[in-house]
Amino acid sequence: MPCTCTVDLGERSYPIQIGAGILETVGRECESAGVQGRALVVADSAVANLYAGRVQELLVSCGLTVATVIIPAGEASKNHTQLIKIYDAALAAGLERSSSIIALGGGVIGDLAGYAAATYLRGVRFVQLPTTLLAMVDSAVGGKTGVNLPQGKNLIGAFHQPSLVVADIDCLATLPQREFAAGLAEVIKYGVIADPKIITLLEQYDLAALRSHSEVMEQLILRSCEMKADVVRRDEREGGLRAILNFGHTLGHAIEQVSGYGEFLHGEAISIGMVYAARLSERLRSFSSASTDRLLRVLEQVGLPTTYPALSWDELMAAMQRDKKKQAGEVGFVLADALGSVQFGCVVPSEILREVWESGSV
Ligand code: NAD
Ligand code: GLY
Repeated sequence: MPCTCTVDLGERSYPIQIGAGILETVGRECESAGVQGRALVVADSAVANLYAGRVQELLVSCGLTVATVIIPAGEASKNHTQLIKIYDAALAAGLERSSSIIALGGGVIGDLAGYAAATYLRGVRFVQLPTTLLAMVDSAVGGKTGVNLPQGKNLIGAFHQPSLVVADIDCLATLPQREFAAGLAEVIKYGVIADPKIITLLEQYDLAALRSHSEVMEQLILRSCEMKADVVRRDEREGGLRAILNFGHTLGHAIEQVSGYGEFLHGEAISIGMVYAARLSERLRSFSSASTDRLLRVLEQVGLPTTYPALSWDELMAAMQRDKKKQAGEVGFVLADALGSVQFGCVVPSEILREVWESGSV
């Protein structure tokens, strides 16, 4: 059964629709969300082949004038060159202040098209149609948009909330297995930061079972979106609390950067980062070794990596120091007291960071 949750931000509130087959409702949903006149669909090359034609058809059947721009698939496209391609397409299609940009794809397209929507003519309406699990449970919700610079990921961006998110679970059927598992890392993250029932539910399924069980996936996506919506409602611009969404990300981002973006998918690096954060939490807070074992087992059960890669600690540490989320020169970690209870902004002495890394390295 399709379900909805709301990101409650006063007059900028918006619904997240979740369900199997609901891409077919996209025209009607866009109309209800105020999309009118001209719209530009932004999709990557892989997703465009699968879904862009149908989405364009559905939007046109609701009276919209629609153009589509296709961006090469992959993280390397989250840059200014592709951003300008979107601006060019928007101008060519005659998009005005009252027009809309519609992101159809994973987090790369959501972030890139979202930033285009935040900046084109000083901001136009934006709709997210996430097609990866990661985008459904994380990047399509909460309004963080942006592009990468050669110096680092997401260094340029804006907060620009969508007017509507439509997550069609049927799109996950075409998602490569590795991408599906990477999305589950973010679902497991919600289990650690806020709702251990997610871990209990996941313990009952392996990857193949999850892929074929759309009711369970719907529940997991809904619960993840509810948690993210709650955090975003309370701290939209990451003054504090929103940082809990970065559990596992401090080391995870450093692993992505030091390994050169490509060896590890984001969710895979986060999986390793969560194991590290759990071990730090055992050392510095009340997190039990039994909880770390449970986290490890559930990550492994869905095929995510949990062992530390052979990367230089000094390089990882330097990458964490450069991370834009560090404040006053300190690297801040999200640490757990128990499954479902975390604390953000924990400063950990650098010798403990190194010891915990070395004690878990093979
Ligand atoms: P992605 O957008 O690159 O998609 C992964 C791959 O899957 C791509 O090759 C894509 O073509 C393909 N794909 C997408 N949907 C498909 C489908 N249904 N069937 C077949 N193939 C499909 O990657 P992602 O993991 O979705 O997103 C990662 C990006 O998200 C990163 O840039 C990250 O920084 C960003 N992110 C943003 C936020 C945020 O809050 N804005 C949060 C987390 C991550
Ligand atoms: N993915 C982290 C955030 O949205 O804040």
